[in-house]
Amino acid sequence: MPLVVLISGRGSNLKAILDAISGGELPAVVSAVISNRADAAGLEYARQANIDTLALDADDYPDGQSYDRALQGLVDCFEPGLVILAGFMRILTPEFVQHFHHKLINIHPSLLPEFRGLNTHQRALEAGVEEHGASVHFVSEELDSGPTILQVRVPVLPDDTAEQLATRVLPEEHRLYVRAIRWLAEGRIRWHNEQLLFDGQPLQQPIDIDAENQKKSD
Ligand code: GRF
Repeated sequence: MPLVVLISGRGSNLKAILDAISGGELPAVVSAVISNRADAAGLEYARQANIDTLALDADDYPDGQSYDRALQGLVDCFEPGLVILAGFMRILTPEFVQHFHHKLINIHPSLLPEFRGLNTHQRALEAGVEEHGASVHFVSEELDSGPTILQVRVPVLPDDTAEQLATRVLPEEHRLYVRAIRWLAEGRIRWHNEQLLFDGQPLQQPIDIDAENQKKSD
């Protein structure tokens, strides 16, 4: 399964994907990593793995439409089976999203549909929730929407700060994203027309990664 990964910054999810591939856990290949920032730290992980890296700066384009058209052309060159948003901090145009229909996935640090948008950890604390987590979802035209595939739950502890919560969620994100991509690459999760299937059955609600692990060990 050829992947194109889009990043904007740190790239820890990208690193988790690359590590899983080199460790033989993920039947995929990262064909290219594209960033909207030439100084994104995560590009270094791709360079170390001898993967093509490209930076496309929004300042070089008059508007979001033309930027996304250029980005789309670039991504298409690599003929990806999946386009992976891994901390890509831009809102994509509907045209871009439609072009990669059923191929564009994102990871978001909350239990969607809770806390779409930014500062999810702080907002989870302010809302007083007992459980927080992360979600992998297909991208639709609305921000942090589209069918959620897989989620991981993380307890919120008394006196947690947003930083502590973020630190607890991040490694779970890595495990979650690798698993979601693996199941998509293996065809365990797939689209049949507009229906998402998991092991051949309609996916009615997001899969809880740990509940699924538990089922396997029962
Ligand atoms: C992650 O928290 C991800 O859920 C969100 O952006 C952050 C990216 O982190 N969409 P990294 O660049 O993968 O370290």
